[in-house]
Amino acid sequence: MRHLNNRREFLSTMAHAGAAASLSAVAYSRVLGANGRLRVASVGCGGKGWSDLTATAACPKVDVVALCDIDESKAHLGQAAVKYPQATRFTDWRKLFEQPKTFDAVIVSTPDHMHAPISLPAMQLGKPVQCQKPLTHTVHEARQMRLAAQKYKVVTQMGNQIQSHTAYRTAVGLVHSGAIGKVKEVHAWQSGAMGWILVDDRPAGSEPIPSTVHWDSWLGVAPTRPYLSKIYHSFNWRAWQDFSNGQLGDFGCHILDPVFMALKLTAPLTVRAEAPPINKEIWNKSSTVAYEFPGTEMTSGPVVKVTWYDGAGHFPSRKALGLPESFNFPGSGSILVGEKGMLLIPHVAMPKLLPEEKFADVKIPVIPSRDHYISWALACLGEDKTTSHFDFSGPLTEAILLGTIAVRNPGAKLTWNTEKMELRGAPNAQDLLTKPYRSGWEPKWI
Ligand SMILES: NC(=O)c1ccc[n+]([C@@H]2O[C@H](COP(=O)([O-])OP(=O)(O)OC[C@H]3O[C@@H](n4cnc5c(N)ncnc54)[C@H](O)[C@@H]3O)[C@@H](O)[C@H]2O)c1
Repeated sequence: MRHLNNRREFLSTMAHAGAAASLSAVAYSRVLGANGRLRVASVGCGGKGWSDLTATAACPKVDVVALCDIDESKAHLGQAAVKYPQATRFTDWRKLFEQPKTFDAVIVSTPDHMHAPISLPAMQLGKPVQCQKPLTHTVHEARQMRLAAQKYKVVTQMGNQIQSHTAYRTAVGLVHSGAIGKVKEVHAWQSGAMGWILVDDRPAGSEPIPSTVHWDSWLGVAPTRPYLSKIYHSFNWRAWQDFSNGQLGDFGCHILDPVFMALKLTAPLTVRAEAPPINKEIWNKSSTVAYEFPGTEMTSGPVVKVTWYDGAGHFPSRKALGLPESFNFPGSGSILVGEKGMLLIPHVAMPKLLPEEKFADVKIPVIPSRDHYISWALACLGEDKTTSHFDFSGPLTEAILLGTIAVRNPGAKLTWNTEKMELRGAPNAQDLLTKPYRSGWEPKWI
């Protein structure tokens, strides 16, 4: 068995895990910033990072003081430097972190494999973190992120911004109000075609690295490989196990977020996937992942089943749900089957109670949106609380990533002991809670 870097770290993680479980989900608040202003550093300024940065900077109390991106071209560091000319520019986050007095809080919007390696040292410096979804690349990293947020008492927020949208907030409110009664089972899906490059194996050869790209820094903790344009950086890294967690990793933290919040789910007991045998490097194009969670005050039995479907055109069975063949599933979303009815939560649109005839006279109480980004900035200043803090998004991410281990072991029913961090049921299951890190790039575990 490969351990979490070494046996001592693994045991230490488990010991902390027990302590973590006894703490309630708290959004830590720590007052930062001189004169009530927050000096923000952005790591990963292109792609989603651009909207993370600009949406956070929309807070009138935020000053953007540092920009870090491994790509200096216009679409990445370039455009951010034009918009925030006063900010100091970096191409290596480690250099930024050598100047901790120059910034108060960090946004991490890099590809998934670098979320924890960048966020952990930020929290160790006492910096609040806003980090994109999925929170991490491995289950062990997700546990470390939660423990670090607790230990350093920093404000945190995962970038599952739909959580703050009226659609998801209203859906959670409906379940909590008892509109569909206790929930018996959940089906969730992302059934659109994948937007990233679909290759069947690693392309051979290499290409010259563009002068603007710091390729070794992009690879970071991951195993090295030659640069190839349009294959990894930018965006297409999602196809690869070394950098991403496939469809479930990409969308699970969005689509299962209101399910987690509505049902107050904790750690899964078991997880089993149906999927084609996995390529050694690339994620599957389709899978079904069946979870069993311990029942909660919002569910109807000792165990609640949550089933995930991904892949183009892959939906739950209308017949099994008692839905007419004419029923049109949204491209992604979930259906919660309750004792009194069902709730459809499209991703992203207002929820719908089913069957429609039964609930035709029900006026849905709409819960307005919050600003996911500004609430993090204000929470850093002690003026608000985040909702997707790592006490919430850490366990959510752990559950999602346990599903990706099941996808790598199709047909095996894996059992999870969250206190001990033990995953049984396949020879490599325990090993896949973590991964090897490139020499010299090992994360700073707490
Ligand atoms: N919340 C959402 O709705 C949403 C939407 C899209 C992406 N995401 C998440 O955002 C993250 C980024 O995804 P993307 O599609 O923007 O990827 P991307 O590859 O398009 O952009 C990543 C950006 O980070 C930069 N970068 C890469 N490695 C870096 C490093 N080590 N240090 C500094 N900068 C680095 C890249 O140059 C690029 O500017 C992912 O975790 C993804 O899952 C979330």
